[in-house]
Amino acid sequence: MRHFLDITDLSIDDLVEVLTLSEAPIPTLGRPLAGAGVALIFEKPSNRTRQSTEMAVVQLGGHPIYTRGDEVGFDVRESVEDIARIMSGYHAVLAARVFDHGVVARLAASASVPVLNMLSDRSHPLQGLADTLTMQQTIGALRDRTVAYVGDYNNVARSLAEASVMLGAHVRLGCPAGYDAGDDELARIDALGPGTVEQVADPSAAVRGAAVVHTDTWTSMGQEAEKAERTEIFGRYQVNDALMSSAGDADGEAWFMHCLPAYRGLEVTDSVIEGSRSMVWRQGHNRMHTARGVLAFLTGVRP
Ligand code: CP
Ligand code: NVA
Repeated sequence: MRHFLDITDLSIDDLVEVLTLSEAPIPTLGRPLAGAGVALIFEKPSNRTRQSTEMAVVQLGGHPIYTRGDEVGFDVRESVEDIARIMSGYHAVLAARVFDHGVVARLAASASVPVLNMLSDRSHPLQGLADTLTMQQTIGALRDRTVAYVGDYNNVARSLAEASVMLGAHVRLGCPAGYDAGDDELARIDALGPGTVEQVADPSAAVRGAAVVHTDTWTSMGQEAEKAERTEIFGRYQVNDALMSSAGDADGEAWFMHCLPAYRGLEVTDSVIEGSRSMVWRQGHNRMHTARGVLAFLTGVRP
């Protein structure tokens, strides 16, 4: 039994298999979830993750059951462990979006079925899958290409960096001090695969030579009280036309990516997200294809 709490729960070969399964025609996957349930528990709001994962379950023949976090009440109504053991008897997979990564880890420790992390404070591995698939479809193999991420080193940045290094990309993070990856984290990610990761504080230096420029909100869910302070600190990390014109490689202008939801006028300007090099819609739609790919993988389908 395999869980998917972090990108690093997959080996490099597994990651390649999941991305291959994500592009396989749906009928070739069979119906591995036929007659089975998948629990989708959300402690935080969602558009893409809920919709795409529910549809992926349906495409694999299963039945998704959405549940609000406060309905099950992790450690309030009953313990995370009791919830995991009961729900494992109803469902083929338990999926959860949580504030504290420790909660998905405890679900996985007590569940007897695979557990899928649908975003925690630590990581957003489903997003990392969609991000790497979208980059591969747009620029080809990631090996030796430069992938920049500008902004807060958060859950999305961590999963993106892990998956990209595993696939051979050179990741450059452009993050302000105090909101960056730290030396131990950089060393951990650098060791994950053939790619590399480095970090700079200057956003223009971060995007130089990059084929793709990623960003995400400066204020993640749960950090709303820090919004004013973060907006001030991250001001010069906005992805705008000037920053995009510092990016690009021998293949041409850089592509722009964002996991969404986007806060236009803060981390990205309208002109960039609506521009001809924006990949955000394809990236968002790939959330469904990669959710299907990883659910197929977790339930034993192989390319
Ligand atoms: N990118 C993403 O996870 O979006 P949602 O929060 O809408 O699910
Ligand atoms: N970093 C953001 C991603 C939202 C999809 C958050 O955690 O709120």
